[in-house]
Amino acid sequence: MSSSGPDHEQPTPAAPGLAAGDPFSRAVEGERGIVVVPFQERGDAEADIAEFVELANSAGALIMATVSARIQRPSPATYIGAGKVEEVASLRRLHDADVVLVDHGLSPVQKRNLERHWQCRVVDRTSLILDIFAQRARSFEGKLQVELAQLRHLSTRLVRGWTHLDSQRGGAIGLRGPGETQLETDRRLLAERVKMLRRRLEQVQVQRRQSRRARDRGKVPTVALVGYTNAGKSTLFNLLTGAGVYAADQLFATLDPTLRKIPNPAGGTLLLADTVGFIRELPHEVVAAFRATLSEAREADLLLHVVDSADPEHEQRIIQVDAVLESIGAGDIPRLLVMNKADLSGRAPRRDDIDGGNQARVWLSAATGDGIDLLLAAIGDFFASRRQRCRLFVPHAEGNVRAALYRQQAIEDEQAGEDGWWLTVNVSTAEAGRLQQMAATGGLRMEALD
Ligand code: GTP
Repeated sequence: MSSSGPDHEQPTPAAPGLAAGDPFSRAVEGERGIVVVPFQERGDAEADIAEFVELANSAGALIMATVSARIQRPSPATYIGAGKVEEVASLRRLHDADVVLVDHGLSPVQKRNLERHWQCRVVDRTSLILDIFAQRARSFEGKLQVELAQLRHLSTRLVRGWTHLDSQRGGAIGLRGPGETQLETDRRLLAERVKMLRRRLEQVQVQRRQSRRARDRGKVPTVALVGYTNAGKSTLFNLLTGAGVYAADQLFATLDPTLRKIPNPAGGTLLLADTVGFIRELPHEVVAAFRATLSEAREADLLLHVVDSADPEHEQRIIQVDAVLESIGAGDIPRLLVMNKADLSGRAPRRDDIDGGNQARVWLSAATGDGIDLLLAAIGDFFASRRQRCRLFVPHAEGNVRAALYRQQAIEDEQAGEDGWWLTVNVSTAEAGRLQQMAATGGLRMEALD
């Protein structure tokens, strides 16, 4: 990108591999778009442009040109300066674009003014991310969360003369209260829908907690894949599970956590959970939807933090992901760093144990499978090192606990008594914690060994 003055910058072609009209772009069938990336410090602009173009592509847009715009003082009417507005207008005409995507939040007034200037639709960052979430949500809960976020976003945008709801709800005859203005009707309909969605969401969350508890009873340790969007979580998930979970070179290919059982390299089985990709500066409207999909991460015994090691910004991204994990209460969960895409970054597969073996980094390629054995060994070592032996009394009424321990191949010795069984078990620390909890509240008795 050239670095002339703020309003004299030349438009550049889209990001590498996304040149205008490139028939191999992923979004060939999509709308023709112009991307505008406002920035304050030039240093940030390049990475921001690449990321936003990726987002736009994920939403199915074919990016014809990108424009960066330095913002010293945002214009209340158009956010970006008048010179940039003109520049984008002529690019819009030149490329016959359908939509202009702006990498920033816009007020309803700014959006409307820009649409008038450019004679096309304008989509801001929040709407774009919500749009991608809406396309990607697969579970009922994910869909509800996204719709709720979209409605919340809409409700901040209800201004006089705003008519989108009309076309959404079809005929409004009979719905409108006497003397109610269009604006009031829209607000009321929106509030009702939000209330209904909240209720449904609560029901779904109760169900999810129940199934989580049922899973806890099965005592299977959980490993969750987390990481920046596009790092390769789904590809790794597929490799580890052999499942055909959707993996695409699109951001947010996974909005909903996906769970699969796989053999635990340390013995027994474990549950592997794929989670939604992280993203820089998530608009606050979508944070709740995003966090809801991360509950698997919060409850996991081990996190596999997947990193795109070929991304020049990857160290920065590791810090960003760590900060989000901290903020959702997952900061203390042990984690392995999976330095993925080693084939692209030119690193040979390898494992580095750091911090006295408490942390490990494994370089591998989820695409080729090279280095996967190193990751499995690291997972195995983690669970093996965290096992502990204890003696457990299980009353007959709790026979399911004994059965679950057998399924995990955790029982070393068993003596049958009159009221139940005395077991010597070798279990993970997490498992031992759960058993301890059951002992505190129910009929189990537990004594630590060694
Ligand atoms: P989100 O769902 O957006 O969070 O992405 P993700 O982290 O699940 O990424 P995904 O597995 O969808 O992979 C993103 C892109 O990177 C896809 O095009 C993959 O084929 C590619 N990819 C994943 N792993 C590797 C790898 O080891 N090497 C190379 N060269 N490409 C990879």
